[in-house]
Amino acid sequence: MIKLEPELNIQSGTPLLEIINLKKYFPVEGGIIQRILPTQKDYVHAIDDISFTINRGEIFCLVGESGCGKTTTANILVGLEEPTAGSFKWKDNLISYQDLKPKIKDIKSQIVFQNPYSALSPRMRLGDSVLHSLIIHNRVQDKITLKRLKNAFKSEIILFISALFSIFLFIISFMLDASSGFLIAITAALLFTLASGIYVNYSLIQKKKIADPRVLDLFTEVGLSPALQYYFKYPHEVSGGERQRANIARAIILNPELLIADEPTSMLDVSLRAGILDSLKSLQETHNISILFITHDLATARHFGDRISVMYVGKVAEMGSIDSIFKNPLHPYTKALIEAIPTPIPGDKAYNLPKGEVPDAVHPPPGCRYHPRCTYAKFPYCETEEPELRELFPNHYVACHFPLNSI
Ligand SMILES: Nc1ncnc2c1ncn2[C@@H]1O[C@H](COP(=O)(O)OP(=O)(O)OP(=O)(O)O)[C@@H](O)[C@H]1O
Ligand SMILES: [Mg+2]
Repeated sequence: MIKLEPELNIQSGTPLLEIINLKKYFPVEGGIIQRILPTQKDYVHAIDDISFTINRGEIFCLVGESGCGKTTTANILVGLEEPTAGSFKWKDNLISYQDLKPKIKDIKSQIVFQNPYSALSPRMRLGDSVLHSLIIHNRVQDKITLKRLKNAFKSEIILFISALFSIFLFIISFMLDASSGFLIAITAALLFTLASGIYVNYSLIQKKKIADPRVLDLFTEVGLSPALQYYFKYPHEVSGGERQRANIARAIILNPELLIADEPTSMLDVSLRAGILDSLKSLQETHNISILFITHDLATARHFGDRISVMYVGKVAEMGSIDSIFKNPLHPYTKALIEAIPTPIPGDKAYNLPKGEVPDAVHPPPGCRYHPRCTYAKFPYCETEEPELRELFPNHYVACHFPLNSI
């Protein structure tokens, strides 16, 4: 099994990353007139003052409907977006939002994106894609590996140039003289076939030698077996699930302490989802990493996670352990989401989906953001007063004026 360098003595319950009052507002770009006239600018309130802690070795789930700010949170944590306000505490290291960009490398996190199709380069073999992430992070110190990789790229370039040259010869010979051109063309084609055959064989032999043992081990660990075969496949030659496994390997090889998985199974066939989740879980246990698991599927979070934070239009509505959230949901939104989980028995339950539409994040509703859809809302209180996130039971937080257990 691959030997990575996780922290020793990792204890669950010890904070790894604290997100404190994080905000992200995107400016809404208006038309030419709005740009010229000094009108007030509008902002998408993608994340509006959220706080939560991810402990070491735990799977923390972020759930909520589309557009509630899950991906934006993930993108900030890997430096793809800059926050508008807030701070981060990585272990004992406090980082303010202004310092996040220069200090992003302090947060040892890696991300697995939702779309396995666009996350890998179509021109790179799966093994090289994984190895490439080590090279760009300067983690390939040993000169022999670098040289072997260089040679592999060189042999590909030679093959490509020889193919181009043969085609060029073929065209020129026809242009010069059709009768002798035909003979030259056949010779050129034969030579090309011979040369490419030799080169393909040669490069395959080369590549077998250059397969990095770290990548091979990790491929076996994420379920890409036989690893050597997958190492030399291009993304279009494997299934979506296998592509996502390669993405997971690419993230894990960099020894993250926090793995962010942004809906890693939502674009995959249902039959593949459980396998990917099982692989993630076993990697989390083997390498002692924490996972920030983003999903809009509460049932997956229940199966997979330790703790959960339910988001609604840029805010945290409820947060707690999986057990406490499912046994005793305090927020009407959480309750509606739980009741909307389908059961395998047809006609077993009438789905109680949250009513109405998700509000506009540019002009979120005043007071409690959920009040226009809430069947328990009391007016005018819920419409005017914004609820604070408070701890109602040990480690079980809710942002609701009238939490369900007290109604
Ligand atoms: N680059 C951007 N510019 C402007 N608005 C953005 C940008 N990225 C995200 N948003 C907006 O921020 C809000 C949150 O988006 P985000 O992608 O984080 O949602 P999400 O919870 O991941 O949704 P989904 O479940 O559909 O992936 C949305 O209203 C979205 O339109
Ligand atoms: Mg998203």
